[in-house]
Amino acid sequence: MKPLVLGGRNGDYLAVEIASLKGFELGSVEVKKFPDGETYIRVLSDVQGRDVVYVNSLQREPNEAVIETLFTIDTLRDLGARKVVAVIPYMSYARQDSRFNPGEAVSIHILAKLFRTVSVDHIVTVDMHLHRISDPSSLFGANFHNITGVRELGKYLKKHYSLTNAVVIGPDEEAEQWAKVMAEELGGLEYSVLEKTRLTAEKVVVEARGVKVEGKDVVIVDDIISTGGTIVEGVKALRSLGARDFYVAAVHPLLIGDAYSKLMRLGLKELVGTNTVLSPISRVSVAPAIVEVLDKVL
Ligand code: R5P
Repeated sequence: MKPLVLGGRNGDYLAVEIASLKGFELGSVEVKKFPDGETYIRVLSDVQGRDVVYVNSLQREPNEAVIETLFTIDTLRDLGARKVVAVIPYMSYARQDSRFNPGEAVSIHILAKLFRTVSVDHIVTVDMHLHRISDPSSLFGANFHNITGVRELGKYLKKHYSLTNAVVIGPDEEAEQWAKVMAEELGGLEYSVLEKTRLTAEKVVVEARGVKVEGKDVVIVDDIISTGGTIVEGVKALRSLGARDFYVAAVHPLLIGDAYSKLMRLGLKELVGTNTVLSPISRVSVAPAIVEVLDKVL
């Protein structure tokens, strides 16, 4: 029997795309709120003995999405699903991966513990912040596949622009991995990173020491655009060094608050993100990259 694909409230559009790319059956889950705010889940498809792909991003309302996801996965198991593959295009809480200040919760460890309790065979996620997690499979208790959306973003930029006199920039040290992949995808461009200091959740200082961008176009690539502060400060710093046109690509365009309008005012040549979360700039689909993993695990 063909696998069944189910989407949560933040994943139904990707579930449809994945099912159509693979020719899998598309099922449905009913999600409602009780008057007191509790979540009601009902799996409407027959999952007994079947391989099930469940898709849900843990955004926009991360806490709601976490409960919906865990309740659904546990129900799938309870109803006799044979194999459960959880596709979590955006894994929330990943940036709180350490006790940065005394007394803080290490949120991603707690979320991983909750995933362990519902027992998933595979977790497929996209460009998760794994800076301080060396063995996600053990942490989440599932075969863990952290794929990248940067290749798909690179293909998009390559198709639409001629970026020969360009350099790829990651806005902080951690973004070097994405800058490297983007530079490769754009035909072997040079890449470099900026120095970022985060002062608060909303405020960052970005410096571009030793970065050569004078007279060049710049492709900035990052995993997340949240408030947009990192990109705004990065563009300012690079413009002051004589950079020409800017092409900004981010895997997870959360675009919180007025981030979108702040970025639109920068006069960028391109601002593009993937559909791990839906936003006005989610023009690149990660479905083909997800399907590559499904081909191996189903
Ligand atoms: C942080 O390490 C991430 O890679 C992003 O750079 C960050 O989340 C962007 O946040 P914001 O858009 O609020 O500056």
